[in-house]
Amino acid sequence: MKKALITGITGQDGAYLAQLLLGKGYDVHGLVRRSSTTDVNDVRLRWLGIAQDVRLVDGDLADLSSLLRTVRTVQPDEVYNLAAQSFVKTSWQQPLLTGAITGLGCANMLEAVRIEKPDAHFYQASSSEMYGLVQEPLQSESTPFYPRSPYAAAKLYAHWMTVNYRESFGLHASSGILFNHESPLRGIEFVTRKVTDGVARIKLGLAGNLRLGNIDAKRDWGHARDYVKAMWLMLQQQIADDYVVATGRTVTVRDMCRIAFEHCGLAAEEHLVIDPALFRPAEVDVLLGDAAKAKSRLGWEPETSLEDMIREMVDADLKRLSASR
Ligand code: NAP
Ligand code: GDD
Repeated sequence: MKKALITGITGQDGAYLAQLLLGKGYDVHGLVRRSSTTDVNDVRLRWLGIAQDVRLVDGDLADLSSLLRTVRTVQPDEVYNLAAQSFVKTSWQQPLLTGAITGLGCANMLEAVRIEKPDAHFYQASSSEMYGLVQEPLQSESTPFYPRSPYAAAKLYAHWMTVNYRESFGLHASSGILFNHESPLRGIEFVTRKVTDGVARIKLGLAGNLRLGNIDAKRDWGHARDYVKAMWLMLQQQIADDYVVATGRTVTVRDMCRIAFEHCGLAAEEHLVIDPALFRPAEVDVLLGDAAKAKSRLGWEPETSLEDMIREMVDADLKRLSASR
């Protein structure tokens, strides 16, 4: 039985990846940090019905000793480093913490693997945010990076450290440059989930409007359930490498909103309020990924359309809100 260690197992991707790996017969271990409110923030694992099937280990990406101990004890065949301060807007308010976790945290994890289990296959959760002020209209593995936030700068450091450990120490370390991916398990602060939750509230008479920032921004959105398959495929290859994972379609926040409102028979223009306070100090105006390499080498392709995903998210929020009334 193969053993996997997932950092960030309580997050959106960690939960879907754990579900995927359990389905493949893996022994799944997840690193979790202490919280004063609950033993473990396992709401997403419970939502997927897998909380009892994974083994959780206490630790923090900022604490190298906890990572060394975890890798030594678990002896994983595969390590997926998904933990991060992942919200771009917060990274301007907490740039040092973002650097320490999203950037240096990856270096800590690479060190733990290099010292305790150097033959483990390693996955780093890199991001299309690294393209920032895009240098090419369609972004691929060869497109130059231009980070536009402390989050993106931290991810870029982590990305190059992953490449560096592969080239310096021969680690089987791959970096997945994933474009935005969403799901009903997405954190409420991210725009798709904020919209689907907001639309559900308006539909149920719990709210009158939805306040957003820059709705002209364009993103290449896919479904997290599809994207975790690409992570796993990368670690099954004989040779580690870097891959863009994207749908190849870009849509404005405005049009994504329309899909959500229309699903509930509502008109977006009647409820959307633009709030300048929600604009960012520097914006990533447009992202559009070219996943040709992932398709040809991994055989990976997205399976869920933006429309189907947004409708799934709205339906999940309607159900959640109705149940809590
Ligand atoms: P997420 O839902 O925000 O999950 C982040 C995870 O990191 C949570 O489990 C969180 O634990 C954990 N974490 C945060 N700080 C930690 C620390 N100091 N020590 C240990 N764990 C810590 O993020 P996601 O959407 O699943 O994304 C997964 C990864 O992919 C992230 O690295 C993100 O930056 C990257 N990424 C995401 C996307 C996307 O569109 N979703 C695209 C490209 C790259 P708590 O539950 O305790 O908070
Ligand atoms: N969150 C949020 N809230 N975003 C808004 C809002 C709002 O009220 N109004 C407009 N937006 C715009 C943002 O300015 C941005 O251009 C876009 O919606 C998407 O914002 P997010 O959903 O917060 O995601 P992101 O693109 O900044 O970052 C996500 O994707 C990255 C990959 O490209 C995160 O998941 C990152 O962790 C990930 O690396």
